[in-house]
Amino acid sequence: MDKILVIGACGQLGTELTLKLRELFGTENVIASDLREAADLIKDGPFESLDVMNKEALDALIAKHQITQIYHLAAILSAKGEQNPKFAWDLNMTSLLNVLEAGKNGVSKIYWPSSIAVFGPGTPKTKTPQNTVMDPNTVYGISKLAGERWCEWYHQKHGVDVRSIRYPGLIGYKAQPGGGTTDYAVDIFWKAILEGNYDCFLKEDSLLPMMYMDDAVKATIDIMQADAQQVKVRSSYNVSAISFSPAMIYDEIVKRYPDFKINYAPDFRQQIADSWPNSIDDTEARSDWQWKPDFDLKKMVDTMLDNLESILVTAK
Ligand SMILES: NC(=O)c1ccc[n+]([C@@H]2O[C@H](COP(=O)([O-])OP(=O)(O)OC[C@H]3O[C@@H](n4cnc5c(N)ncnc54)[C@H](O)[C@@H]3O)[C@@H](O)[C@H]2O)c1
Repeated sequence: MDKILVIGACGQLGTELTLKLRELFGTENVIASDLREAADLIKDGPFESLDVMNKEALDALIAKHQITQIYHLAAILSAKGEQNPKFAWDLNMTSLLNVLEAGKNGVSKIYWPSSIAVFGPGTPKTKTPQNTVMDPNTVYGISKLAGERWCEWYHQKHGVDVRSIRYPGLIGYKAQPGGGTTDYAVDIFWKAILEGNYDCFLKEDSLLPMMYMDDAVKATIDIMQADAQQVKVRSSYNVSAISFSPAMIYDEIVKRYPDFKINYAPDFRQQIADSWPNSIDDTEARSDWQWKPDFDLKKMVDTMLDNLESILVTAK
């Protein structure tokens, strides 16, 4: 029986991934860990406080629970990273190297997410291919690109079974986003329901690749469940689901909230968004491990509104 450690389990992705892993593998077999206190949704299962920068503490936790798989999600995201570049670089790199060393020393499978932030202004913007120009101009993107190279290196040189996906912007309702450039696409739902207006920090036509959280969790678990031979890309896979702009998501929300207003006030995050692709070609993920998304824009907006309405109305 696998024993799974989720690092960064209280974050936007970690909360939902931990819930799903516990459903599939049994609550007692999925150890959540984070710097923060256990988030409400995951505090009913095993939880350990962990600073992943502390290699001895990580190794001790792996030994204590006889961990066989690690999902390493702790990171500083794109917008926060630009505000504290050295800290973002240190955290994103050292934590990954600590986890990859654990893979070298016996943990049998590792998952680590990359991002569309690995692409940059020189990358073809539309249907960005798996292998192309990669010239990220954010510290976050630079750290993810370096991380991809480290993953491939540990796989080739030390046989570490590490698997990775380049997520687009992730949208979910169970946990708040942690400081990325696509956070607007979560905030906008809360504002539509609670306040009736939203100041958007990106321009109305900023088209970016996005994904509903259930699809992100499905892709993550699918690549981890695939046979090792199917996982041919050992840096990180492109995956794609939906591309939309603030105006496009607004048009969908306004169908249910006709009085909802949006105002565009781009800030420093616009420049980051401008350096990223509009859409992603994920041919390799589709053919190697049969990736396929379930959510389009309409289904995602309906699901977000249905769930947030019931949470926010119950909370009143
Ligand atoms: N959310 C997105 O849209 C998105 C897009 C692309 C890639 N990703 C990647 O997915 C992963 C998870 O992203 P997220 O949105 O859930 O991030 P998040 O910021 O919401 O969560 C990260 C979690 O890591 C924890 N953490 C930070 N430093 C830590 C440390 N030293 N030790 C242990 N825990 C620590 C934080 O407390 C937080 O709970 C990250 O690697 C991120 O780069 C996310």
